Amino acid sequence: MRKNSILLIGVGLVSLTMANGCAQAQAPKAGVESAAFGTTADGKAIEIFTLRNAKGVEARVMNYGGIIVSLKTPDRAGKLDDIVLGFDSLAPYLKGTPYFGAIIGRYGNRIGHARFALDGKTYELAKNDGPNHLHGGVRGFDKVVWAAEPFERATERGLVLKYTSPDGEEGYPGTVAATVTYTLNDANELAVDYAATTDKPTPVNLTQHSYFNLAGAGSGDILGHQLMIAASNVTPVDSTLIPTGLLAPVAGTPFDFRTPTAIGARINVADVQLKNGKGYDHNWVLDRKGAGLELAAKVTEPTSGRTLEVRTTEPGLQFYSGNFLDGTIKGKGGRVYGHRSGFCLETQHYPDSPNQPSFPSTILRPGLEYRTHTVFAFGVAR
Ligand code: GLA
Repeated sequence: MRKNSILLIGVGLVSLTMANGCAQAQAPKAGVESAAFGTTADGKAIEIFTLRNAKGVEARVMNYGGIIVSLKTPDRAGKLDDIVLGFDSLAPYLKGTPYFGAIIGRYGNRIGHARFALDGKTYELAKNDGPNHLHGGVRGFDKVVWAAEPFERATERGLVLKYTSPDGEEGYPGTVAATVTYTLNDANELAVDYAATTDKPTPVNLTQHSYFNLAGAGSGDILGHQLMIAASNVTPVDSTLIPTGLLAPVAGTPFDFRTPTAIGARINVADVQLKNGKGYDHNWVLDRKGAGLELAAKVTEPTSGRTLEVRTTEPGLQFYSGNFLDGTIKGKGGRVYGHRSGFCLETQHYPDSPNQPSFPSTILRPGLEYRTHTVFAFGVAR
């Protein structure tokens, strides 16, 4: 009985009646379900939404931080496994995490010296990363409660998350109304649509901070994953991870992932940029053809066969190799997250753009709408 139900989930069937007529355990149906997931310190109820597609792929997302808590995708034998780092319950998320699975805002990555000037005025932000401002500040979009509305359509289902960031929040000007929509379709694609408006000019740069391990979260390091990044340049950084403002060609460096290469193949070579990042923690300048959705990266995990493609409308991609993970975090199922046991592929505008006139602008102005689109597509290599 048990063996059958595992097999059924594995091949993605929704239900099966045995030849002898006795109904077997049914794999859950495609759709969205919600459940209580706890309460914040100030008494806000947190809900967790399970998005499931017709093939059994399942993403669980909560309205605290818009966090993807778990994500189950099949390996080449059809076996589902959870491929993102995180926790089983709300409490550890509330205590603080290295942004596991979260929506990042208002500004993904760093703003140098935690300050920027806009239209002649200087704005001071929290210094929450040495001298710099990181991922929206002390209480960024990863730590707020979003209004959540699930939806279901024929071959896709998802969750619309809304948050209004008040004027002056974390030092930023303007009231920003942000909407982030997760959509899981039956082609095993998880889309993230970001939208925002403002009533005063302000920087906006939203992203998603899932840590992936395609062999299964907590199964070891990610150094054997084969990575391709469609980028001929990176934005090199100083020792506090602020871009110098230059673009550096990847050719002939450990940053050249234009053909698939193991993440660990060159991560320990003597290189000043690898030293500054303590590994990979850089923004790749994507080789774009236009403004539409284009392939930014592809990852293949050789043992499970799982693949991940990242497509985006954004000009940049932060590839972070989990360098700050050090084995002190115990995650789902009590598994320890060791050094480089997860990687992030954060689609974005370049770090520190508000202070870098040569970078594409991240300033959103009243009357205009911020819109970006990213797709995480899951597959298998045979
Ligand atoms: C991003 C940053 C990293 C680090 C992680 C979270 O990827 O670029 O330097 O802050 O988030 O630990």
